Amino acid sequence: MEKETWKTSITQIKKGEIRVRGYDITELMEKLTFSQVVFLILKGELPNPKESKMMEAILVSSIDHGATPPSSLAARTVISGGNPLNASVAGGVLTIGDSHGGAIEQCARIFQEMVKKGGKLSRSAAELINDYSSRKKRIPGYGHRLHETDPRTVELFKLAGKLGFSGRHIDLAKEIEKKLEESSGRKLPLNVDGAIAAVISDMGFDWRMGKGFFIISRVPGLVAHAYEELTREKPMRRLGNTDFEYDGPGPKGIN
Ligand SMILES: CC(C)(COP(=O)(O)OP(=O)(O)OC[C@H]1O[C@@H](n2cnc3c(N)ncnc32)[C@H](O)[C@@H]1OP(=O)(O)O)[C@@H](O)C(=O)NCCC(=O)NCCS
Repeated sequence: MEKETWKTSITQIKKGEIRVRGYDITELMEKLTFSQVVFLILKGELPNPKESKMMEAILVSSIDHGATPPSSLAARTVISGGNPLNASVAGGVLTIGDSHGGAIEQCARIFQEMVKKGGKLSRSAAELINDYSSRKKRIPGYGHRLHETDPRTVELFKLAGKLGFSGRHIDLAKEIEKKLEESSGRKLPLNVDGAIAAVISDMGFDWRMGKGFFIISRVPGLVAHAYEELTREKPMRRLGNTDFEYDGPGPKGIN
């Protein structure tokens, strides 16, 4: 009977030799940047200069957004409880979901499925908005608590245009943004998750890799937050007495 093996086409290791997607790690270390090697390991091929620049911008765009998002709060809280850095960063990564960072995945899925289906982009955008609003659902990749226009979206799209990545997915993303504002009467900007979703779709990445881009980008930020919390704050951080309010039942007794 043939022996069952665990197959992988990512990295080959032998004594004294490591090859990622066929390339010697020492040559990659000497000649490429981190984001170029991220592209290589995810896509299986070396990026051209335009893909390198776009990848670099994507990974820089989400490196941090202050101490308020769920991931930095979680990372800081976990380390503050007396846990190690790896637990703190893992805690931060675990918060990445449909509302925070993870919107890239579902948003890229929508863009890719709609573009694949074909047809007029304006009609696809209108259908999507009707569908989500009739189900009272939020469209992933749109809206931001702080930014009326997300500066990272503007920069990513500017670069994508300059580098020749502006394709049907980015066009669809813009069309949805326009129609969403018309139909809701409020500004729901394409946020950085939505912009990354559109750009990676025009670069040919599968939507199922979507969350990975945010995780790869945000982990350095989480390490910085964990370290700052550890070295600058007292252990066991908690909300001050004025920052929370009890609204449960009053005192009760058991007879
Ligand atoms: C990011 C987000 C949490 C910010 O929310 P917020 O600014 O606090 O907005 P609110 O929760 O106050 O919602 C305000 C209104 O806009 C609507 N809205 C917000 N985002 C929406 C979206 N993506 N699609 C449709 N409607 C949306 C809400 O339903 C709400 O409508 P209502 O007043 O009729 O109930 C929200 O826009 C969202 O969930 N977006 C989708 C997930 C996403 O892209 N996350 C990545 C963030 S970088």
